[in-house]
Amino acid sequence: MTTSDPFVHVITHPLVQHKLTLMRRKDASTTSFRTLLNELAMLMAYEVTRDMPTQDVEVETPLETMTATMIDGKKLALASILRAGNGLLEGFLAVVPGARVGHIGLYRDPATLQAVEYYFKMPKDMPERDVIVVDPMLATGHSAIAAITRVKALQPRSIKFVCLLTCPEGVKALREAHPDVQIFTAAIDRQLNDHGYILPGLGDAGDRIFGTQ
Ligand code: URA
Repeated sequence: MTTSDPFVHVITHPLVQHKLTLMRRKDASTTSFRTLLNELAMLMAYEVTRDMPTQDVEVETPLETMTATMIDGKKLALASILRAGNGLLEGFLAVVPGARVGHIGLYRDPATLQAVEYYFKMPKDMPERDVIVVDPMLATGHSAIAAITRVKALQPRSIKFVCLLTCPEGVKALREAHPDVQIFTAAIDRQLNDHGYILPGLGDAGDRIFGTQ
């Protein structure tokens, strides 16, 4: 599914779609799931950082001096929603190695499906930072909404949200709660089931990343 909402970006690049399909397969091993997730995170990081400001700098090549382009000293923070968000960190950090990393511990109350916070640690200087909140699955949206609410209270310069997979229910909930936050995803699947899982989805992302299923 695609969307005309300019705040929702479905990354349709063939490499992203191919790797996502391999991850969906129920017989994908933990090793290949992790490898694919790393690769996907790198490809997604490339898209998510597309609007980073740049500046012209002088550089001396072995042959002459030229004016070239560099990132404009932006301070980036990644905020991982534990535990599955950690699965996206390695790939993101491969592309933006200087980013600081915060963690937000939330668990889903199985009865209410609401997010309950148990850990919150962010880098310093948040008002100077652009934040990318990462969690592979945007399902009910409860965790993402709670995490972004906490991050927003620290008044960062901007916040983006990145997931691998979402569903119409998750997109709607997050858009309504945080209309200023851009969402990046590799796919918007059909629906959420009664247990808060995305269909067809890929199962429990945390279990598949850490091999705890
Ligand atoms: N979290 C997951 O890991 N998978 C889903 O389908 C929904 C939430």
